[in-house]
Amino acid sequence: MQALAPRPGSLHVDGTLGGGGHAVRILEAIAPDGRLLGIDADPEAIERAARRLAPFGARAVLRQANFEDLAEVASASGFVPADGLLLDLGLSSHQLADATRGFSFGAHGPLDMRFDPSRGEPAAALLDRLDERELAEVLRRYGEEPFAGRIARAIVAARSRGALGSADALAEVVERAVPAPPSGRRRVHPATRVFQALRIAVNRELEVLEIALSAGLQILRPGGRMVVLTYHSLEDRIVKRFFAAERRGCVCPPELPVCVCGRAPRVRPVAGTPATPSAAEVTANPRSRSARLRAAERLAA
Ligand SMILES: C[S@@+](CC[C@H](N)C(=O)[O-])C[C@H]1O[C@@H](n2cnc3c(N)ncnc32)[C@H](O)[C@@H]1O
Repeated sequence: MQALAPRPGSLHVDGTLGGGGHAVRILEAIAPDGRLLGIDADPEAIERAARRLAPFGARAVLRQANFEDLAEVASASGFVPADGLLLDLGLSSHQLADATRGFSFGAHGPLDMRFDPSRGEPAAALLDRLDERELAEVLRRYGEEPFAGRIARAIVAARSRGALGSADALAEVVERAVPAPPSGRRRVHPATRVFQALRIAVNRELEVLEIALSAGLQILRPGGRMVVLTYHSLEDRIVKRFFAAERRGCVCPPELPVCVCGRAPRVRPVAGTPATPSAAEVTANPRSRSARLRAAERLAA
């Protein structure tokens, strides 16, 4: 909230509405007449948040959409130019807890993992379609999984035995495929990286993030702020590089020897960011442990 600095009467976009926790805080801060556009790909999240935000009446406008379309959705809903944009990436605790969504390795539900269950391919179909080499590549690229080759082999073997029907079955296959750590004790479940990789692939998470960051800058008015919360190094790297390039002005790919875009800086950093949770916050909310918050203020350029 400090980084976003919402003022009474301002216009804000929450691109990852989820349970509406941030949205409530923003709507309170922009009272009495500020408005918030809440976007989520998950129709169930929109339904739940609509109930929670009902007391704010017409000040809360909710749309089920992917945030890759945020420029169009914000423009069609009268939120351009906006004073603030929040992206709190990844999945919500509701989605993780819902056994039918396939996000959690403890659940005996189907392997789906789509934020929007009406679009794209569920994780089960992806696991069925990819060959061993392609699977290993997904695990390496999106999970930074050191045992990608072994795990891909185990998945293909389990698949041919018809033993991959649910999230917990996949977690078990992965657990058996990776060597035990030397200490004999694991800090996180051995399938964590595999589930992260599949979720990223199924939802095209890195691709849509790049699109949303550019769209976000387009819709902000000068002085408007964009705040992004990431939960793993792949997405954090994208946000960090994007803000760094926009701060420099030049958005040429790093492999170009000279600047060909000629762009002026479009953002400046927000004081106090990047930020990570305090030890006390991690104790109170262990899921915040990997969070990193980056924020930038739009310049007039
Ligand atoms: C960490 S939760 C957000 C929690 C929220 N800030 C709150 O206070 O309750 C992330 C949400 O973003 C949604 N989401 C993830 N990727 C998305 C995308 N590309 N487009 C739209 N929504 C997305 C998920 O469905 C999930 O509900």
